[in-house]
Amino acid sequence: MKNSNNLKEFSESPTFDLFWENSKFNKYNALQLSNKLNEDARTSKTIPQLFYPTEELQLKKPNDNLAKILDRRESKRKFSEYELTEKQLGSLFYGFSQKENMTRIIPSAGAKYPVEVYAFLFNVRGPLNKKVVYYNPDFHSLSIVNDCGSFQEVNEHCGLRVEGNPSVLFVFVGFVERVTKKYGERGGRFFLIEVGHYAQTLGLRIAQEKLCGVEVGGIYDDEMKKHLKLENTNALIGLGFACGN
Ligand SMILES: Cc1cc2nc3c(=O)[nH]c(=O)nc-3n(C[C@H](O)[C@H](O)[C@H](O)COP(=O)(O)O)c2cc1C
Repeated sequence: MKNSNNLKEFSESPTFDLFWENSKFNKYNALQLSNKLNEDARTSKTIPQLFYPTEELQLKKPNDNLAKILDRRESKRKFSEYELTEKQLGSLFYGFSQKENMTRIIPSAGAKYPVEVYAFLFNVRGPLNKKVVYYNPDFHSLSIVNDCGSFQEVNEHCGLRVEGNPSVLFVFVGFVERVTKKYGERGGRFFLIEVGHYAQTLGLRIAQEKLCGVEVGGIYDDEMKKHLKLENTNALIGLGFACGN
C-alpha cells in the first residue's frame, strides 16, 4: 500500500467528516447505544414491508450453485476454537483481490478503491498466527502490521460484544479522500456502499467454505485504529466481520 494516508488539513467532504465524527462509537456513548438496542428488542416485533394491491408476476427461483451459496449465507455468532487453514484464508480474502486488468472483483465508484482490508488472525495455521495483517489486493498476499493478542483482549478493548472465539476478525477500513477527491460529499456515500460490497462478498465466501461469521458494526473507532497502527492517519473504521467455525 502506498503511504499517502497522513492527516490532511483540507477536506473535500466536510459534511461527511462531521457525520462520521458524530457517528463514532466509543466507551462514552456505548451505554447510550446499549439502551437503544434494548429498547428496540422490546418494541420492534415486525419487519416493515411495502404492500401493493396486486402482484402481477410470480418469479421462479434459480436452481444453481450461486443460488445455493446465497441461500446459505447467514449471520452466525457462535464461534468455537477453530484453526483456519492457509487454504481457507486464501479463499476468504480472494473476493477482495485485483484482477489482471487492474480492476478488482468488487466494483468501486470511479475505480478509486477507498476500502482496504485488515484482519486479526487469532487462530490460523502457520507463521501469521496472532498477527494483525494488511491484505495486498494486487498480489493476493498478507503483510504483517502488528501483533494481535487474544480475541478476548481485542473484543473488550474495541467494544465488539462478540461471543466465543472467532478465528479471524476482518476490518474494512476507508481512505475516503480517494473517492471524495473526485465526487466530493457524495464520495462519502460511495465509500459506505462499497463497504457493503466487501461484507457481502466475504459473507458469500464464508458460506462457500461452510464456515460461520457475523458483521460487527459496533467497534470503538479510535481504539481499533491503534491496533491497526493507523492512529495518525485519516483512516475510517468501516465495519468488522468476525469469522470462524
Ligand atoms: C452493517 C451491519 C452491522 C451489523 N452489526 C452486527 C453486530 O455488531 N453484531 C451482530 O451480532 N450482528 C450484526 N449484524 C448482523 C445482523 O444482525 C444480521 O444481518 C441480521 O440480524 C439478519 O440476519 P442474517 O444475517 O442471519 O440474515 C450486522 C449487520 C449489518 C449489515
